[in-house]
Amino acid sequence: MRGMRLLKLEINGDEVRLAAPDHWTLLEVLRYSLGLTGTKQGCDKGDCGACTVLVDGEPRISCLQLAAEAEGASITTIEGLAPEHRRAGGEGADPLQEAFDSCGALQCGFCQPGMILSARALLAHNATPSAEEVSAALGGNLCRCTGYTQIITAVLTAAHAAGGPEVPRPSWQAAEQASSS
Ligand code: FES
Ligand code: FES
Repeated sequence: MRGMRLLKLEINGDEVRLAAPDHWTLLEVLRYSLGLTGTKQGCDKGDCGACTVLVDGEPRISCLQLAAEAEGASITTIEGLAPEHRRAGGEGADPLQEAFDSCGALQCGFCQPGMILSARALLAHNATPSAEEVSAALGGNLCRCTGYTQIITAVLTAAHAAGGPEVPRPSWQAAEQASSS
């Protein structure tokens, strides 16, 4: 098969074998060979972070990585988070997914898979990040809809659910509470 390459990838805990054009990126293989469309194709040039996946637990821009370079690594996409959480004994979705939902940390949702995977990597290294650390960890993930505040609150909420500190109230909420007391 000229121009094609046989690939063996580990995706969301499963070994996957497939043939794909040898110039295809990991993003293209995920979306167009495997139908894992939770990984979003935004700018396709490394600017927006929508295509972020975890490669051996670290966030990676999948539109800039050849699929062949991912052989031998463990890849996690947004579709794999909830099953991984349940395999570890949890219930429902990953706590970050639950927190994004409960905090209303999305509008169109396009950025959300990449945001959540970047946040998952952060919490694996730092279970109790500050708002500034969350903001820095998500610096490569752009959102065209929200003001980022709820996204940061969602990550802090997931950290709190895992035993981290209370989530600081936004200043407008604290002011509202003070004026009503
Ligand atoms: S689609 Fe990969 S960084 Fe935008
Ligand atoms: S919610 Fe629309 S891009 Fe972030």
